Amino acid sequence: MKNSTVFDCTLIEMDKHHSDDKGNLTVVENGKTVPFEVRRAYYLYDIPGGGARGAHAHKELKQLIIAASGSFDVTLDDGNVRRTFTLNRPYQGLLVVPGIWRDLNNFSSGAVCLVLASEVYDEGDYIRDYDGFIRYKSITK
Ligand code: TYD
Repeated sequence: MKNSTVFDCTLIEMDKHHSDDKGNLTVVENGKTVPFEVRRAYYLYDIPGGGARGAHAHKELKQLIIAASGSFDVTLDDGNVRRTFTLNRPYQGLLVVPGIWRDLNNFSSGAVCLVLASEVYDEGDYIRDYDGFIRYKSITK
């Protein structure tokens, strides 16, 4: 999606089943919670202090990024506008549409970043070079 913007990316509030004696449970279900079918899940953990992840965009992949534990910042960039979201609630997910550069940083100690994705892994879907991303978006800077 070459013409997507950071304003197409939103925080999704998932349901939270709370029990005073058992704690919390949050569900992500295909067809209900996210506007795509989940084909893959992966998670980032044991991220060293000051570490950064991401630094890429996807051409087709849709993702829901969740701070399953702890907190971190996700900065989204469409080539024109940057928006930073602090994720720190396991019942919130950040929907990232295709064609958006993302940087993840400021991980708290012990943070777990859970990512639900619309496709299986395909290195060909990645744009890992920021200048290439700007060219892909056909933005002249
Ligand atoms: P990488 O894309 O560098 O992680 P991030 O950009 O999210 O910080 O991925 C790290 C390694 O893991 C890289 O060698 C590719 C591999 N990988 C898979 O094999 N399958 C996957 O689904 C993902 C997300 C990564």
